[in-house]
Amino acid sequence: MIRLNYQYSKQNDVKFKKLSLNLVFLIQDKNIKDRIDDFNKKNNLELNNLQKENLISPEANDIRISNSNKLPNEFLIHKIKINKSFTADYFRNYCAGLISKLKNEKIQELYLTLPEYSTFNKFYDDHPYFYQTFIEGFVLGNYDFEKYTTKKKTNKRLTITFLSDETAQIKKAIKNAKDVTEGVNFTKDLQNEPGNNLTPPEFAKRIALMFKGTSVKVKIMDEKEIKRKKMGGLLAVGQGSKNPPRFIVLKYNGAKNKNSKLIAVVGKGVTFDSGGISIKPSNNMGEMKADMSGAAVVAGLLLAAEKAKLHVNLIGIISSAENMPSGTSMRPGDVVITSSGKSIEVIDTDAEGRMVLSDALIYASKQKPKLIIDLATLTGACVVALGELAAGMFTKDEKIKDQLFSSGLKTYDRVWPLPFWDDYNYQIESNVADVRNLGSSRWGGAITAAKFLEKFVDKNIPWVHLDIAGPAMANDFNNYTKKYMTGFGVRLLFDFLKSNK
Ligand code: BES
Ligand code: MN
Ligand code: ZN
Repeated sequence: MIRLNYQYSKQNDVKFKKLSLNLVFLIQDKNIKDRIDDFNKKNNLELNNLQKENLISPEANDIRISNSNKLPNEFLIHKIKINKSFTADYFRNYCAGLISKLKNEKIQELYLTLPEYSTFNKFYDDHPYFYQTFIEGFVLGNYDFEKYTTKKKTNKRLTITFLSDETAQIKKAIKNAKDVTEGVNFTKDLQNEPGNNLTPPEFAKRIALMFKGTSVKVKIMDEKEIKRKKMGGLLAVGQGSKNPPRFIVLKYNGAKNKNSKLIAVVGKGVTFDSGGISIKPSNNMGEMKADMSGAAVVAGLLLAAEKAKLHVNLIGIISSAENMPSGTSMRPGDVVITSSGKSIEVIDTDAEGRMVLSDALIYASKQKPKLIIDLATLTGACVVALGELAAGMFTKDEKIKDQLFSSGLKTYDRVWPLPFWDDYNYQIESNVADVRNLGSSRWGGAITAAKFLEKFVDKNIPWVHLDIAGPAMANDFNNYTKKYMTGFGVRLLFDFLKSNK
């Protein structure tokens, strides 16, 4: 990672510094020749024939042109086709890809001539957010997780200066992007941490350390307190590991109005999921170090909310355990009693996420929030259904469903509704307990998992379950989801909280 600084300046006021590159966007349409001529005249460029041909050509996208001995030293011209495949993620993704290349160069100053919002407004809901996507792209693309490598850390800095006359809007966009991406990066750091270092107690410590000195209060319950609270679902999952479970509660009170209602955000915090006695195949089992992604989103979201001083009251609830096979593990066939007294028949010890969440949802319901949102890397079935680009969304609240859906399209942390009818309940009926932890058939596994969770939520409280098993994990979709866990969910929920008060 390199150090990024952001500045802005009006077009005419800018004084270019040395070791600089100026990024300019050109729209590839029938007026491209005129646009190139304008660009030439404005910058006194002497383009040769080859450069001109490349600029006009629909094939070439990125063209770098030296500015001889003048400043900026070089221009980078990126051509955009606004066609059916243009999306609201375009600039976020482009800037992410650009920064991952530029961070290996000697450039110290990047000037970015921002394109006109009016050309793109049909793809975005608002003006500052359009600018925000550029900055988000830079931060997301700059991310890496190299703390365990012996590679020398760089102390390289790059200043990015936005050239636009709309300085007020840009200032806002920079602030918002910084706040939200601090949360995203914290979430990613937690997700990428391997299971040998991020055990439940270590997870709790990392969170406490991050919020030290902030207005967010962190309460950590250890295994003794978890036992006292009779959280049998969480205890059963954790009992096979030498690393004990933790239950973590975070409180952020940012609402100006004291009576403003509370929102609870609940996360699955399985620091490593081997499957337990129902052990997983070894292929890609290492990915299960990120089975605490839901919990990491809870922590990152509270961090972003605190940075932005969002006017909401939040309670973050994290249920964390390690799912391991051993002589003390829970067994298939066990019956465990949760903190509400409701019992679970363990059919498959690999369906552990719903068990740790049972006690967390009971706890959340007791706080009487106006809304509960839980996030969990809950089922492979959800990834089979939706792929890696969207989280499964389960709720009976139509309004919140629509709000989350549109925050998804805006932030590109996309969610997609799946069926949630009570008719699916027959699959989780047990002969010996109140509910079984595995559907009676393999079909609809993401839905039966969600129906299981529903049993532990107060029926009078609106509730949304997000199965993030797909998009939480690294994937080849775009420039900022590769290599590392994605932080999926922080930008989504931050926007949801900001947009719907
Ligand atoms: N953590 C997994 C789900 C998962 C799978 C997350 C792939 C991310 C990527 C979860 O605990 C699990 O093991 N689910 C089982 C459920 C089954 C036993 C009902 C699964 O999906 O196979
Ligand atoms: Mn599992
Ligand atoms: Zn799991």
